[in-house]
Parts: sequence; C-alpha cells; structure tokens
Amino acid sequence: IVYTEETLYRPNFHFTPKENWMNDPNGMFFLNDTYHLFFQYYPEGNKWGPMHWGHATSKDLITWTENPIALYPDELGYIFSGSAVVDLKNTSGFGDGTTPPIVAIFTHHDPIKEKEGLIDIENQSIAYSIDEGKTWIKYANNPVLKNPGIKNFRDPKVVWDENHQQWVMALAADDRTKFYSSKNLKEWAFISDFGNDLGAHGGVWECPDFFPMQSENSNETKWILLQSLNPGGPNGGSATQYFIGDFDGKTFKLDEDFKKQLDLKKAIWLDHGMDNYASVTWNNTNGKNPISIGWMSNWLYAQDVPTETWRSSMTIPRELKLNKTENGFFISSEPVDQLENYFSDKITKENIEFNEKTILIDSKTIDLTKSVIDIKLTDLTTDVYTFTLYNTIGNNLKFGLDNVEKHLFIDRQSSGLTNFSEAFGKHVTKAPLTKEYQEARIKIILDKTSIELFFNNGQEVLTEIFFPNEPFDKLTIESSRKEAKISTLNANKLNINNN
Ligand code: FRU
Repeated sequence: IVYTEETLYRPNFHFTPKENWMNDPNGMFFLNDTYHLFFQYYPEGNKWGPMHWGHATSKDLITWTENPIALYPDELGYIFSGSAVVDLKNTSGFGDGTTPPIVAIFTHHDPIKEKEGLIDIENQSIAYSIDEGKTWIKYANNPVLKNPGIKNFRDPKVVWDENHQQWVMALAADDRTKFYSSKNLKEWAFISDFGNDLGAHGGVWECPDFFPMQSENSNETKWILLQSLNPGGPNGGSATQYFIGDFDGKTFKLDEDFKKQLDLKKAIWLDHGMDNYASVTWNNTNGKNPISIGWMSNWLYAQDVPTETWRSSMTIPRELKLNKTENGFFISSEPVDQLENYFSDKITKENIEFNEKTILIDSKTIDLTKSVIDIKLTDLTTDVYTFTLYNTIGNNLKFGLDNVEKHLFIDRQSSGLTNFSEAFGKHVTKAPLTKEYQEARIKIILDKTSIELFFNNGQEVLTEIFFPNEPFDKLTIESSRKEAKISTLNANKLNINNN
C-alpha cells in the first residue's frame, strides 16, 4: 500500500480544517440544536500567520462541517482567541427582536504596533451575529477594553453570572488572570486579579475559561477557572491547569481543600498529556455539565508536525464533571456521550490473564485507527502494566499504568516520525498518581494520529499525538507477573468519517 498524507495522517473523526493552519478553539456556543466551533486559523499557510476565526458546525459534537471564515483581520489587527455568548436577554442591544444576538469577544492583536516595539498591542473587541453565527458585524466602537500597559493581554472568555446579573470576563494578562464585568458587553469594568503565587507560572497564561459548575455528588456549586499556559506544562510546553473556588461577583477565592491540594501538588492539570491546549467550554449549554474541547497540539512542535495540507486537529469534545472527595473537589473529563452513537462493530472479552505480551486487538476485527477501547484491570500488584500499539514495520506507542513508580505514562519515542522536532518524542510523558491501584479502568480513544487516555472515569487524562509510518494494527498488554487480569474489555469500532 502506498500511503498519502491524507490516508495516513488525516484524522478519521477529530476535527481538522480542510487546509492550512489551525490553533486554539474559540467562541464556541450552542444554539438551535447546533454546536458552533470557531478556531484560530491562517487560511494562507500551514504555519501560524495573521489570525482569522475559522468556523465549523455540528449537530452532535462528533461530525463537523467546515463553514466560511467568520472573522478576518482588519485595521485594528489580527483576530486572536476569544469567546462568544448567546445574548438571550439582548443586553447588548444588537438583537433585532427575532433571534438572540451572538456576541463574539476577541483580542485584536496589532502587528504594526508590535513591530514598533509598543506595549499596548492587544486590546479586546467585539463582533455580533444576528443570523446564528453565519455572518458577523464588527462593532463600530472597537476596542471595548483597552490595554492598560500589559504586553500579553488577551483571550477574553465571557460568561453570564446569574447571581449578580452581570457578564464576567476572564482575561489572561502576562501570568495572571484579570476579571472584568459588564452589563451590556460593550462597557467593561475591572473587578479583580487572580493568580499571584498560585499554580504554575512557567510561561505566559493564555486562554482562560471561567464558569460555575454543579457538583456530581453534593449539591454545591463551585466556580472553575481553566487557565492554559505556555510553556510550563507538566511534561513540557503548553498545557491547561485549573482552579476551583467561589466567586462573589468580584473576586475568585480558592476553595480551602483545593488550596491544600494545590500547595501539595503546585499545579493541578486538566490533562497531563502534551497535546491538549487552550481547552475551553461551550456557551449556552445551560443546565448540563460543561463541554470542553482543546487544540490537540503543543507550541513546542505544532508548526513542524509532518502534515502539509493542514496542520493540527482538535481533541474529542469532553464532558467535565465536578467531583467531591474527602480531599475536596476535582474535575474529571470524559468523552461526550454522543460518541457512542457511532459505535459499530464491537468485541467483548472477559477474564484475560496475561503476563507476557498478549494480543488484545487486531485491526482485522476492530480498526485501531477509529476505535474506543474500554478495559477493566483487576488483581493488580506492584508492577508495570504496559499496553503497546504497533505495526508490522516496528513503530510502537506504549502506554499504561506504572504501579511501581506510581504514574500513568505514554511513550511515543518509537512511534514513527519523531525527528521533525527536537522536542517531539524525546521523553516518556507521565501523570503522577498518589497511590498504587489494585483495580483500574482505562478507556482509550484512538484515531490515526492520536490517543486520548481516560483513567478511572477521567480522573486523570493523557492526550497525545503521533505519526506512525504505517497505521498501528495491533494492541497488546504485558506485565512481569501473572496475577493480574483484564476482567472486561470492550472495543468498539467507530463508524465515522469526518474528513
Ligand atoms: C494560544 C495563543 C493565544 C492567542 C492565540 C494566537 O495558543 O497564543 O494566547 O490568542 O494563540 O493565535
């Protein structure tokens, strides 16, 4: 078989633009049974360039249609990351009384001022749509929030704060979050700062998200701040940390137990893999748990990954859950349920004892480039449990649970093409665990160039990309002792072809 870039590397079901460069997800909202996804897009090249907002829509978060570009750069600059809200009460006055206006809030990044070495290059602007996101009109009095003299001042994420009847904006400012409030989305007032001495500060903070969330197992509501940063991630480069606390309409104060965990761990991550960046949630999915999506790449090597026609894809959309434990709250992420609508061929196996390499799945039965595999391990001891995805030419991707050193891992060092970047596949990615596990559940979502590993219902997540020279076609497991077994394995082929 002669493989092309399309057949070997175009994801089967993760969103990619047809052509050219994409980074962060932006401005996602839900309205009239349609999920809208916008994204940082450069339509004239396969590396980062003057930013536009690309646009795609979906009925179920899984199958996407790419639409015309939504926002183009203008005399105020490039269109950097930001959010969009469905202005149900027409607080902005942009509505015409027929359908709620959608208001996009984004950063105008001025490349001319940047060249001149000025500091106020990033300002916040708005645009609105009165046809459900198809076309956009930029507000005449942009920018709506001027730069106060901070070089990195961007990525506004806006949410309606029902308790205080106000819009709240979280904005990344160097390595802090700033909060602003507004009644009409046009005039913004500074309310507070967050982040001094808290969390990871190994790079610039970018793409915050701020929203209330109800706990799964208590009737409390907490406010969550997702805060991406680059570099400074747990395994290098870009990653997203989060904070849990309370919001009184002005300041965000950390939950006491969360603060203790944070003091212990220094930073708490949404995903420990190297390829889930700028994760943010959909607006207007009210009453349900938040749904997030991330850019499945890392600034360390995003512009060098071995695809030319398009560059990079998004993660699978995930439902976030707020869980309460004796150590306080934490967030878990799981793939959205809609993915299950695409389950087709299925295999189930039970009570597989293993120690030497044991084949679990062969692509002849379940295609390992479009599948969801859910495995329950029992009788685990102090040992390393390694899964290997491999092909006939010797590429392999290893991942699993290390009960000796207590971490989850992904090792893509021999997964195929790695030398396109100094930073790709040079070490094993690890997610530390606080204890040894006797039982574990591992769910993995496999596409041609990505693995998303959800440990124990998404308590820990690892997302990574890889570029094999041929598709992986076998999955094995091994350990050094005999006690352990797979109590159940469910593998489902996904009947999707997005691209
Ligand atoms: C994050 C980011 C944002 C910025 C955008 C520019 O990946 O650097 O902070 O708005 O990308 O494309």
